[in-house]
Amino acid sequence: MEKIFQAIERSGIEIAKLIDRDSFEYSDSANTSGDNQLKLDVESDKVIEKNFREVTSIRAISSEEKDREVEINRDGKYLISYDPLDGSSLVDVNLSVGSIFGIYENSFRGSNLVASAYIVYGPRVEMVVAYDEVKLYRLAGEKFHFVKTLSLNEKGKIQAPGGTQKNWLPHHKKMVDDIFQQGYRLRYSGGMVPDLHQILLKGGGLFSYPATTDKPKGKLRILFEVLPFALVFEKAGGYGVDDKSQRLLNIEPQHLHDTSPCFFGSKYEISLLKKYYG
Ligand code: F6P
Ligand code: MN
Repeated sequence: MEKIFQAIERSGIEIAKLIDRDSFEYSDSANTSGDNQLKLDVESDKVIEKNFREVTSIRAISSEEKDREVEINRDGKYLISYDPLDGSSLVDVNLSVGSIFGIYENSFRGSNLVASAYIVYGPRVEMVVAYDEVKLYRLAGEKFHFVKTLSLNEKGKIQAPGGTQKNWLPHHKKMVDDIFQQGYRLRYSGGMVPDLHQILLKGGGLFSYPATTDKPKGKLRILFEVLPFALVFEKAGGYGVDDKSQRLLNIEPQHLHDTSPCFFGSKYEISLLKKYYG
């Protein structure tokens, strides 16, 4: 497992440099979810694949930017799903973006997720790893240094409500309004990694990406985005649930690129969600 975390660190350092230097042009292609791929998405995907190919314990990888799973070592024990550069369209307006990783044994399903990690490329580059605990690291020079262990309080002060508001369902709108009426403040950049990172570091709050009339199964991808953060939030003492208030980690995706409505937060906000969603 240590070698996998080291490959993630190397990838983070290389991608941070790519973001600094690369052009923001679109490539000629779109990924399986229909998003236009930036050259940076494609380059970041290559960096990660190259670093994972050096780790013999990895059996296969799947990426938001690839159509199918790629076998690396037949005898490897671990499977890794990753989103090489989440929120990449925010690079050209100079907002934070991130890379997300889920590490599984046996098969790509929530119950087999043994660790996850993400990297935020912001004013500073930070990495969060959820394994035994949830640990924050910060890049200084060419090395990630341990900063602290992260845990959520019972209740936060901010919410990040995703999706097109005119397409929200009535009970979702009521819940978001209620949370604002309770004094919560809006914190939404449109990048899942920095938005969830902010809630985690501030000790609580609610991030929601609901089912909407135009996207009944939500937008965020189960393997590449949802499950890794579900593990981070649970290990930090919070919750990750879907629109039936079920644990996200119990979801079994049928296809690599399946999506799910998702809600991440601390205890109080998730109990409020249950009130509105049942
Ligand atoms: O990868 C999808 C993504 O860019 C996430 O980073 C982010 O949380 C979400 O889309 C934002 O979507 P919307 O603009 O619909 O709120
Ligand atoms: Mn993404």
